[in-house]
Amino acid sequence: MDKVKSFAGDIRDSRIALYMENVSTLYAGEKKPSIFNISLKVRYGDFLLLTGPNGAGKTTLIETALGLLKIISGRVLLFGYHIPEEKYKALHFVSYVPQDFMKSPLEPYTVKDVVAMGLASRKEPFEKLSREERKKVKEVLDIVGVGELINKPIGKLSGGQQQRVIIARALVRDPLLLFLDEPFSSLDPEGREYMSDLFSEINKHGTTIVMVSHDKNYIPHRCNRMVEMMNGKIVRES
Ligand SMILES: Nc1ncnc2c1ncn2[C@@H]1O[C@H](COP(=O)(O)OP(=O)(O)OP(=O)(O)O)[C@@H](O)[C@H]1O
Ligand SMILES: [Mg+2]
Repeated sequence: MDKVKSFAGDIRDSRIALYMENVSTLYAGEKKPSIFNISLKVRYGDFLLLTGPNGAGKTTLIETALGLLKIISGRVLLFGYHIPEEKYKALHFVSYVPQDFMKSPLEPYTVKDVVAMGLASRKEPFEKLSREERKKVKEVLDIVGVGELINKPIGKLSGGQQQRVIIARALVRDPLLLFLDEPFSSLDPEGREYMSDLFSEINKHGTTIVMVSHDKNYIPHRCNRMVEMMNGKIVRES
């Protein structure tokens, strides 16, 4: 929390990581909003599970919070910063594991390069990683179980291996808020169990998490809130 305050100067409400008030979002070229009148507060330390059927608006909600989509009404604040106007300040504290993560077999980047991209927004263009940062990249890859693949081209990895690398890219940033969109989708049962425990551990150490998952068998034990969406609206909260 101090990290944010010293960076942000005037945090508007230091207990709320994500604030959404009556938010509706429209995709380019569409007439009907994909999410309508969404109001949601995610507090520091929350581990929120976002559920709902295909097309309910879960990914849209996350991408709206990140300032990636056009907000047609309402207000979004991320760590007190207005989205989209101040998104580059807010995004310093955030990591995102997208639902659609698979890379082409022709992708030239290695696993190490991809994880290092997680640190890029905090560095000057073309600035090299420090020794500490290189060590951190290897550490997070070991933690997610793919340390031995560090020099391989990302596109030549299996789906589950790539998903682990994308999770490592999110973790290397030590985010204050972590958005996970179906982070278990390509993992085997052991991988799901391990990652579920890892996310709980990360949350226990202070990272706020918003996770989309269909898999009711692997709900991390630290989950303290559940929000269900349907047809672009929040229909249930607990
Ligand atoms: N790029 C896009 N352009 C136009 N409409 C879109 C686009 N992406 C999603 N939508 C629409 O927005 C609505 C919500 O989609 P969204 O991807 O948020 O659902 P979801 O809850 O994440 O579903 P899933 O469980 O399948 O991932 C759907 O009706 C979908 O058709
Ligand atoms: Mg989705």
